Amino acid sequence: MQKVALVTGSSRGIGRRIALRLANEGYDIVINYARSKKGALETAEEVEKLGRKALVVKANVGDVTKIKAMFEQIREEFGRLDIFVNNAASGVLRPAMELEESHWDWTMNINSKALLFCAQEAAKLMEEAGGGKIVSISSLGSIRYLENYTTVGVSKAALEALTRYLAVELAPKNISVNAVSGGAVDTEALLHFPNREELLEEARSKTPAGRMVEMEDIVNAVMFLLGEESGMICGQTIIVDGGISLLV
Ligand SMILES: NC(=O)c1ccc[n+]([C@@H]2O[C@H](COP(=O)([O-])OP(=O)(O)OC[C@H]3O[C@@H](n4cnc5c(N)ncnc54)[C@H](OP(=O)(O)O)[C@@H]3O)[C@@H](O)[C@H]2O)c1
Repeated sequence: MQKVALVTGSSRGIGRRIALRLANEGYDIVINYARSKKGALETAEEVEKLGRKALVVKANVGDVTKIKAMFEQIREEFGRLDIFVNNAASGVLRPAMELEESHWDWTMNINSKALLFCAQEAAKLMEEAGGGKIVSISSLGSIRYLENYTTVGVSKAALEALTRYLAVELAPKNISVNAVSGGAVDTEALLHFPNREELLEEARSKTPAGRMVEMEDIVNAVMFLLGEESGMICGQTIIVDGGISLLV
């Protein structure tokens, strides 16, 4: 049976790399995006070049109605889902004292709430297929202080906690739930950081492994959690940061 994977936020960055790696491994791909239509279509073109089907779905994952509509489209087009990678993220980057309620809601909805409501829909399809795998992408701000990162850091902490709850409740349905947390990766996401240069310099000079984390480092860990060898890993967050989070 042809297997199907959904990667949220696969119009660019790490999400696109995960989508292409999965296509290369033989999965048909659901490419989700919110604003970058051109990027999403480019990902689709590359998936098709690999001989796989691509379904492009515009859906703001911070909106539960849009999530449900996206899963309806997946059901209609493919009738199954084997993998769900919860990668899409956004956030308002400001010091804690400057945050407004709308900034909190925006970030929590896209980065945390989306996992719960996508996982509910994904689990229905996965159960019908006999099981599946869910992996989310987190970041070090979930466990450490990072400048301007309050909303995203807190949302990622919620995502990691939710990963544990979902893992326990979905394990009996043969659905594994885990996360990969990364150190700074030089993607378009970093363009929004007021302290981008400082952040990159710190990652380059202080990472014990001697270099910054690259997109493929994250993708490799995601692929491990999506593979057969990780079957008994349940509700964990694997940190891929070259050791930087171990420093004081
Ligand atoms: N870059 C890093 O340093 C780093 C480090 C650790 C973890 N991560 C995590 O890795 C993941 C990918 O990061 P990245 O650096 O590749 O980010 P990115 O280049 O900014 O890409 C983000 C992706 O998410 C999509 N997206 C944003 N808001 C969305 C929404 N409301 N609904 C649906 N899609 C939405 C974007 O699509 P549109 O453009 O269409 O909105 C885009 O495809 C994120 O979870 C991030 O937190 C990143």
